[in-house]
Amino acid sequence: MCGIVGILGQEPVAWKLVDALKRLEYRGYDSAGIAVLADGHIERIRASGKLQALSEKLRSSEPIATSGIGHTRWATHGAPTETNAHPHLGGTVAIVHNGIIENFKELKEELAGKGTTFTTETDTEVVAHMIDYEMKQGKSPREATQVTLQRLEGAFAFAIMFEGEDDLMIGARRGSPLAIGHGSHEMYLGSDAIALAPFTNQVTYLEDGDYVVITRNSFELHNDKGEKITRPLNFTQASALLVDKGNHRHFMAKEIAEQPDVVGHTLAEYVDFDERTVRLPSEVELDFTDLDRLTITACGTASYAGLVGKYWFERYARLPVEVDIASEFRYREAPLTKGGLSMVISQSGETADTLAALRYCKSEGQRVAAVVNVPESTISRESDVVVRTYAGPEIGVASTKAFTCQLTVLACLAIAAARARGVMSLEQEHELVGQLVKLPRNLVKTLEQEDHIDRIARHIAGKRDVLYLGRGINFPIAMEGALKLKELSYIHAEGYAAGELKHGPIALIEEGVPVVVIAPRDELFEKTVSNMEEVAARGARIVLITDRAGAAASGADAFETITVPQADPFVAPVLYSVPVQLLAYHAAVFMGTDVDQPRNLAKSVTVE
Ligand code: F6R
Repeated sequence: MCGIVGILGQEPVAWKLVDALKRLEYRGYDSAGIAVLADGHIERIRASGKLQALSEKLRSSEPIATSGIGHTRWATHGAPTETNAHPHLGGTVAIVHNGIIENFKELKEELAGKGTTFTTETDTEVVAHMIDYEMKQGKSPREATQVTLQRLEGAFAFAIMFEGEDDLMIGARRGSPLAIGHGSHEMYLGSDAIALAPFTNQVTYLEDGDYVVITRNSFELHNDKGEKITRPLNFTQASALLVDKGNHRHFMAKEIAEQPDVVGHTLAEYVDFDERTVRLPSEVELDFTDLDRLTITACGTASYAGLVGKYWFERYARLPVEVDIASEFRYREAPLTKGGLSMVISQSGETADTLAALRYCKSEGQRVAAVVNVPESTISRESDVVVRTYAGPEIGVASTKAFTCQLTVLACLAIAAARARGVMSLEQEHELVGQLVKLPRNLVKTLEQEDHIDRIARHIAGKRDVLYLGRGINFPIAMEGALKLKELSYIHAEGYAAGELKHGPIALIEEGVPVVVIAPRDELFEKTVSNMEEVAARGARIVLITDRAGAAASGADAFETITVPQADPFVAPVLYSVPVQLLAYHAAVFMGTDVDQPRNLAKSVTVE
């Protein structure tokens, strides 16, 4: 889950590497480092902690060089110290790595037996030494890399540089993403197109097993057998301008505020506004007519989108849905019907477990549709049908706008499925699409509550436990609210189905414990309010998130009420996501945690 970059350039490269790493910091931020070739010699600068620490070191001594590699790390093997920071060296080889080498211990022992000494605890250093060893046996850098790659087990993307070879770099991919960027007499490697956006919009993606030898004016792609291959050139839209905080204090704040726009953009792709019907783009070739089951897999926030999707597909399209977290699903050996449909949901399109679930479904003969935000991602490329969300780049580690766009797409798909299965009248479709169309406006109104929510968040900040309760389609939003709070502010938080409360969690309630209750005035409202009264009677401080009708009907038990616009229960999950995001955001800001880069997390989880 690290970010890697490599540049063979014409100008001094050190700050360019740091600029690219800044765009990759969402992939990990435990430590960072660069290595450049200055007069043919490898010079390395590394620092533990965020990129800022590396920048400070660079300010006091910038090496002058036009080629180099860089890395921002999310630690897997070895503590996040400077010693363990990438790039790693092995003799004349410098390397940066994203992924895990599973058999590194055996390989390390083998090399140690031949006299190699190691300076770090990392799996990556072993790879550098293996390539160096092969070169000492007379192989060229390319041959040495190829034989080394063949011995590695696990997942990786590498950028590799060689002492004395100022116009040569090698990149390789198995499992973790890697792109080649094409410049004018310059060539780049990067974990994704966003890293390379300031330098070029022309990229070639490596496929699993590929490696590439680049010089400033050429590139040569090979498959794992060493045969020369070609891959398509893509023109990306990852504009450098999009990855900017604007006037906001954090990326997360900007991304929360963007939701009316991006939900609107997403709707525009799936809805005919004049006809008030769902209109899937021609490339979304999905036939729900005769399906007897849909399997949805995803991780974290995306899996909560899947759970909301389950309610929609089952209730409106009468289509049974199974939702599982990908890390469990992939090992469950679930029987799947040949010719059936599975769906994966992912913002990044690179999540290792979700990708493995996708591959499992395909191996079982299913068609796989991916609801995905990054169109160039591995999941997009490997799925049969791509159903894009139009959230734009999401940089804050905690997912916000990608989630509401996933919900928007799933709502449209559920309506399309209902129509295809003959269980929704045109009138009902008009009604539900009408609700979807109002979402951007209602999201704006919800965002107007921000100052009020900020004040409530101050009561939540610093508490030991917070419970989130919801029922039916809003139960997943309770879990999402709890996840947002714990990942941003490190407060212990749990989301429960309100009806489950009496079966255990109510024991957590004592005087002053905040309980966030998500309860639009729908058919389950009275029941949720009863659960709210039960915890209020035991001293809980209720934060009730409801609509105008719910606020009027709820009685006096709430300590605070957040009122969102009145809307059909169909769209409630999208609207009620915003207050829980804002609560978590403002609690974290008040507590002074690092909102965009919470501890131990990374945006793109490319290891299992
Ligand atoms: C939480 C969060 C994560 C991701 C999860 C899946 O705020 O962002 O739980 O939702 O890691 O990531 P993607 O959607 O990229 O597959």
